[in-house]
Amino acid sequence: MESKNGIVMVSAVRTPFSKFDSAMADIPSIDLGVMVMKEVIERVGIKPAEVDDISYGSCIPAEVALETDVPARQATLLAGFPAENISVSLDRACCSSLTCLRLGVRAIKAGEAEIVMAVGAENMPRTPHLAPGLRKGVRIGHIKLIDCLFELGYGAKGFNPVAKDAGEVAVEYGVTREMQDAWALGSQEKYAKAFAEGKFKIGEELMPVVIPQKKGDPIVIEKDESPRKTSMEALAKLKTIYGSPTVTAGNAPPISAGASAILIMTSKKAKEKGLKPLATVIAVAASATAPREIAVIPAYTIQKALKQAGLTLDDMKLIEINEAFAALPLVATKILANNDEKKWKELQAKTNVNGGAIAIGHPVGASAARLMMTLAYELNRRGGGYGVAAICGGLAQGEAVIIKV
Ligand SMILES: CC(C)(COP(=O)(O)OP(=O)(O)OC[C@H]1O[C@@H](n2cnc3c(N)ncnc32)[C@H](O)[C@@H]1OP(=O)(O)O)[C@@H](O)C(=O)NCCC(=O)NCCS
Repeated sequence: MESKNGIVMVSAVRTPFSKFDSAMADIPSIDLGVMVMKEVIERVGIKPAEVDDISYGSCIPAEVALETDVPARQATLLAGFPAENISVSLDRACCSSLTCLRLGVRAIKAGEAEIVMAVGAENMPRTPHLAPGLRKGVRIGHIKLIDCLFELGYGAKGFNPVAKDAGEVAVEYGVTREMQDAWALGSQEKYAKAFAEGKFKIGEELMPVVIPQKKGDPIVIEKDESPRKTSMEALAKLKTIYGSPTVTAGNAPPISAGASAILIMTSKKAKEKGLKPLATVIAVAASATAPREIAVIPAYTIQKALKQAGLTLDDMKLIEINEAFAALPLVATKILANNDEKKWKELQAKTNVNGGAIAIGHPVGASAARLMMTLAYELNRRGGGYGVAAICGGLAQGEAVIIKV
């Protein structure tokens, strides 16, 4: 699907992404979703009734289920949108919020909508343990509790933990543990530099999360909570997780809460409203491959999006590839470079220039839209150009978007 100069992103915002032990961990993901849904339209003076279509992504159903089975509908009503508003909840694992964008692009291209919102919300630390069987009762014996966060639940039906697949495939591509640790260190350092330069300040991609307290002042969270100082020595000491040959707590993203929202519309509508676009959506693409190949899917999806847009990697000023693990941007850029070492280094240098999920956090349903907005804000700072953002989602699904500023 291609949309040349016809669809623009006019507003994009996210909450800070939390660490595991955070005041944000007590806020239902749906409430985080409501916050960004309100903010993304308020910033550009769009009224709720003007939004034709809302897609809402999340991918830890156990946490969502604490409040609702229809998060999109419930969040839409709670955020003050009219009862007539059309919305849909979807789960394409970590791809979800860019899948929402892709559906929105489709709706606009089909002439069914002019203004569309894509939302992603997740609260991983709040995921409850499940106690199956209690409805029938336990006649005799122990009660079993299931942790949906452990290995992200993939083992129950015989699939590998993604950390294992990603690490094994990375090694097959010649991407070692040391390279992954070096990427993780780079992610932390690039984020720290960008933060010091004011790039993650409230008002651009970030909005504050205000948490009222029973007594005293509210807690106000204004920045991502996970970035940390580290070193190659400290990273090398960490044990690998979930049977992966390379993935550790240091070169994986932390477990986070957060929400993101993006508002797109026809460029005609943006002109009518006098809104300055943050970016033009050039192409959106989805793909999937054999479940073990999660580390390669961002590369395939980027190639598919480039083909749709009639562009090449050299046209891309910046690239965002989600750090589902450090292995991902490394393997993906190596494939995109076609094993040319010099090209590989060049691609790495323009990928995740302000750090990635390893530093920022990865509230899975919200991350894809975060990549797109981080890319758009940075392209604006750099005077424009093309950029591509890509993400992998559980069992080797991919989503990519090409934008122009
Ligand atoms: C890897 C994971 C299991 C770790 O969870 P955790 O144990 O709660 O994480 P912690 O932050 O406590 O880190 C574990 C240890 O590593 C250390 N550590 C983490 N990052 C570090 C870094 N960059 N440098 C040095 N040490 C680090 C911590 O200090 C901690 O040490 P301690 O045990 O001595 O206190 C969890 O973050 C995870 O599952 N991440 C991946 C999520 C995921 O799969 N997302 C989807 C991808 S598709």
